[in-house]
Amino acid sequence: VFENSTDASKAVAQEIAALIQEKQKENKPCILGLATGSSPKGLYAELVRLHKEEGLSFKNVISFNLDEYYPMEPNSINSYVRFMKELLFDHVDILPENYHVPDGLLTKEQIADYCHDYEAKIEALGGIDLQILGIGGNGHIGFNESGSLQNSKTRLVALDHITRVAASKDFFGLSNTPRTAITLGVKKIMEAKQVILLAWGEGKANIVKKSVEDEVTNRVPASFLQEHNNAVFVLDKEASSKLT
Ligand code: F6R
Repeated sequence: VFENSTDASKAVAQEIAALIQEKQKENKPCILGLATGSSPKGLYAELVRLHKEEGLSFKNVISFNLDEYYPMEPNSINSYVRFMKELLFDHVDILPENYHVPDGLLTKEQIADYCHDYEAKIEALGGIDLQILGIGGNGHIGFNESGSLQNSKTRLVALDHITRVAASKDFFGLSNTPRTAITLGVKKIMEAKQVILLAWGEGKANIVKKSVEDEVTNRVPASFLQEHNNAVFVLDKEASSKLT
């Protein structure tokens, strides 16, 4: 628990930088799982600063984003491809062939094979070294909504009403908000060697408490992380305020 999200984001950025550099010394790629949304924005700003001011290189980073709305044009203002380029990828030296964001332009027929290949790429690299997560108001991780199974795979999912309402401000109304998305499954998230979930503000306090202190249940997918051997919730004071 940190005093505020800025301090917390800086601490997480330091941890990521240390991991990237450790892998550089070993001449190995660093496999990062990345999230979008408001929670990691400060983290990405700090990583950009570390690159520009302190010479942190992302040349050995290979990243896989958690999710993308479906359907979604990559250049649309709401696309997670665009989000990642604007907040991170275009400002650091990651190689364009090394970042992956699920493709929102697939045909329905292509989705199953695409999702299988997305996971196969991660597996071929030995899995995700560090997975960054946010948490939805319903406890979703990625877009694994309530009811997602612990062994769920990467797939097309229907977004919960609560998720669509949260997104609707970005889409200028609920009727324009996508109903579906492609998400990394819970299984690949749980297989990551390390998981860091970020949550800020009192709006997240209830779901953080449920995820951390209540029972493990697929009604709250973030609660699965209780069973991960190297997962932490990084919180500001407000998001931690309901913890006992
Ligand atoms: C985004 C994602 C989502 C968000 C979650 C919280 O890639 O996977 O699970 O992390 O909806 O969103 P924010 O951070 O906007 O509160």
